[in-house]
Amino acid sequence: MKQINGYSKLTKEQKIDWLVANYFKGDACVKNELMSYWHEDVRVQKIFDDFSENTLTNMYMPYGVAPNFLINDEWYCLPMAIEESSVVAAMSNAGKFWSERGGFHAEILGTTKIGQVHFTFKGDKEKLKNNFSDLKIELLEGSKYLTVNMDARGGGVLDVELVDMTQYLEDYYQLKVSLETCDSMGANFINSVLEEYANLLKEFVVRKNLDGELKIILSIVSNYTPDCLVRASVECKIEDLGIVGGLPPQEFAEKFSMAVKIAEVDPHRATTHNKGIFNGVDSLIIATGNDFRAVEACGHTYASRNGRYASLTHCSLDNGMFKFWIDLPLAVGTVGGLTQLHPLVKRSLQILGNPDAKQLMQFCAVAGLAQNFGALRALTTVGIQQGHMKMHLLNILNYLEATEEEKNHALEYFKDKVVSFTTTRVLLEQLRSAKKTAK
Ligand code: MEV
Repeated sequence: MKQINGYSKLTKEQKIDWLVANYFKGDACVKNELMSYWHEDVRVQKIFDDFSENTLTNMYMPYGVAPNFLINDEWYCLPMAIEESSVVAAMSNAGKFWSERGGFHAEILGTTKIGQVHFTFKGDKEKLKNNFSDLKIELLEGSKYLTVNMDARGGGVLDVELVDMTQYLEDYYQLKVSLETCDSMGANFINSVLEEYANLLKEFVVRKNLDGELKIILSIVSNYTPDCLVRASVECKIEDLGIVGGLPPQEFAEKFSMAVKIAEVDPHRATTHNKGIFNGVDSLIIATGNDFRAVEACGHTYASRNGRYASLTHCSLDNGMFKFWIDLPLAVGTVGGLTQLHPLVKRSLQILGNPDAKQLMQFCAVAGLAQNFGALRALTTVGIQQGHMKMHLLNILNYLEATEEEKNHALEYFKDKVVSFTTTRVLLEQLRSAKKTAK
């Protein structure tokens, strides 16, 4: 019976039993396997269970660090949670490369976040617009009880605008709210304020007799925050790049810059280029318990802001200088959410020196820039497969349950050969049968 009512009401073990009975023919090994990933400390497991719903077990993800990051003249080690091979290695290499050339620079260009109350108003547009300044005062006053703490921390509502969207959709308007949420990502705070604004708006339209029919459609934070923006950059004399992947500095710089320009004009390349950037950004975002879906959605919208999806990074080669930078909008938090709950998130923040949200924005932009540098450096010189394949080989070897001795042998063997699953399997079979014969 693959359909069930009230699944969420079952205990965790009952949920597993139902799943195993219906999808694994009751195989006890599957149940044991799922339970084997439970944390041994029941209090910690309870924390994980409560993050989400219908939690059965934990799904592991590699957690590592990329050391040697010189950012605004301070040394950092960046925690990264990512399953893809080569990403941490590329980050670490880029970190080291730039630490020998002045390091990364990062600056905050803005921290404003946005929320919207989307509504329709069938009625006198002018009346709505003329009454807006009174409405705005009432919205700000009427939501004070929600904003008082954020106001005290130096944040709160910065502005409220009435946006006429009727040129796009009949009778459609927005309250567009700009907010500062300090060290929290702010989605909960923003949504509470917006829902209160929606109530106050409804009440206002009736009380002021605005002669129209108002319908609140929805009130929600916008994950597009172009004014919550950070810039990270690196620069050095072209000659100081040295020989990169066998190329002399000028040739490398020109190829690198061309690769960035291609991603500035071609959406197909830009998508992969930006995906590589998010390899770096997301791994740090996940390690610090932030919302990588929000960060990605925002970055991709920003990448399309001029009407054509394009690179988030840019490169210039003027007056003998190599400059490479990223402007990245992202809303992150270092308080609230998972930050005080998830044991490894706490550790990540400690590794980063317990940063505030602005610092974390800077680290994320640096991670994205470093990752993109690492990818383009490989792509424009030796190609991506050389590094990728070594890690891929390790994954295949682990899958085939290779011993340490077999792994070392295979790594040596594939140094000058193309890795594939079949050749690795055949190699292991040969090694194993040779060992048997020798016995
Ligand atoms: C792979 O995860 C990321 C790259 O494809 C990025 C890029 O092509 O720039 C290597």
